[in-house]
Amino acid sequence: MDRYAIVMAAGKGSRMKSIDEDHSKVSYPILGRPLVKYVIEAIKPLGLKQIVTIVGFGGDVTKRIVEADSDVVWQKELYGTGHAVMQTKPLLENKKGATIVLCGDTPLITSETLGKLFKKFEKDGDLATILTSVMENPAGYGRIVREEKTNRVLAIKEDKDCDASERSIEEVNTGIYVFDNETLFHYLGQLTPDNAQHEYYLTDVISLMVKDKKQVGAYILEDAQEVFGINDRIQLAYAAKVIRKRVNKKLMLSGVSMEDPETTYISPDVEIGQDTIILPMTTILGKSKIGKANFIGPNTYIENSTIGDYNNVMSSYLFETTVGSHNEIGPFTKTRTNTTIGDHCRVGNFVELKNAHFENSVKCAHLTYIGDSDVGEKTNIGCMSVTANYDGVNKSHTNIGKNCFVGSGTILVSPINMEDQSFTAAGSVITKDVKFDELAITRPEQRNIEGGYTMVRNKALARKEKK
Ligand code: UD1
Ligand code: MG
Repeated sequence: MDRYAIVMAAGKGSRMKSIDEDHSKVSYPILGRPLVKYVIEAIKPLGLKQIVTIVGFGGDVTKRIVEADSDVVWQKELYGTGHAVMQTKPLLENKKGATIVLCGDTPLITSETLGKLFKKFEKDGDLATILTSVMENPAGYGRIVREEKTNRVLAIKEDKDCDASERSIEEVNTGIYVFDNETLFHYLGQLTPDNAQHEYYLTDVISLMVKDKKQVGAYILEDAQEVFGINDRIQLAYAAKVIRKRVNKKLMLSGVSMEDPETTYISPDVEIGQDTIILPMTTILGKSKIGKANFIGPNTYIENSTIGDYNNVMSSYLFETTVGSHNEIGPFTKTRTNTTIGDHCRVGNFVELKNAHFENSVKCAHLTYIGDSDVGEKTNIGCMSVTANYDGVNKSHTNIGKNCFVGSGTILVSPINMEDQSFTAAGSVITKDVKFDELAITRPEQRNIEGGYTMVRNKALARKEKK
């Protein structure tokens, strides 16, 4: 049976209390990954033929998040969940198969549960299977109304439309269902906004089907936490904690050590090799890939970076950086956009690299800025060296060859080319290229004045007396 998915993600999320009017609720991130992306990742392994996401409020942002995996339809005015699903009609109406409908704001849902829901639908021959959950406090949810004698599902009654006895029902609609696709679109056409909220309720499809004797089933979710929905920032933080624990558990079971998983924040998209040790207060986000047997942290932030094996990265910030193997990085290194570091390099404290490319065995141990530069093998960059790569308008390139020695306090006013095996003297301001085997020195010659200490001191004391 062909499978389809509809993700409802048009809602506003006013309880997030954002100053940004266009911030869609489902775009809030947990560990750098937007809420709706968690839902998309959970449905991807289900063997779907097509995913359609309904966007509306803040839809441009939501569209950018999902469009690699999903078609997108717009719901310009929000007239309820039934109206939302109706917007997918041009894409899905005539498809034969089973369609799962779910919300974009439930990031804890798992592929396993959704797979079981599909199986139940297929095995029982239902035309709709509702994922339900039993809750001690069901307030706010649609209730599952069952026939007393047969226990068969009759309807979903929205909280606001329930009478007192219906309100005491503890079995609720999780907002996730599998429908026979053609049946779904047939009954969507019959919905009316004749209810407390004057909305087109998707849930009314169920009672309409039951009235026509179409088979409706329910699958009771074992762990209600999976359908935890995010409406405010307290719930966002709670879900973040659950996801962090899941990710860390999976990594630890695969051979990654974490000294303190409670303060280790790793996105589910990150890969980490065996025997790597993550030290406390470390965050690794985006499509980062960390090899084996590294020490990462403490206090390290890594985003969209690739790191090889046997490195030590301590108290540092790495963004869009590729690191080879056997490197010593930090403490307090900052690397950003498009930086590459080879093998056996040393990048030390208070060193900033931007669009810099270090070949193997480069040493750049302290207090240095290297931007828009290539640095050859075995070159040593002395303390407090700077590439002056920006004239206020243009960024220029610096090339430093292999086996070079950049003396401490050198300022390389780019564009500059230092050929292989060239040398700059400490404190030099380099404005011209340096050729193979040359030493460039730009400082004035030193003059020593005998008795100079006393001379300067006496002048200073005389100035003080005058005051
Ligand atoms: C819905 C269900 C309710 C269920 C609950 C589970 C209906 C009528 N009720 O109620 O039975 O217990 O979910 O959480 O379906 N959305 C749109 N467009 C709209 C309206 C909503 O895309 O016009 C999206 C929202 O962004 C959200 C989802 O649909 O992701 C659910 O909408 P929401 O308003 O939260 O429905 P509930 O009142 O929670
Ligand atoms: Mg809701």
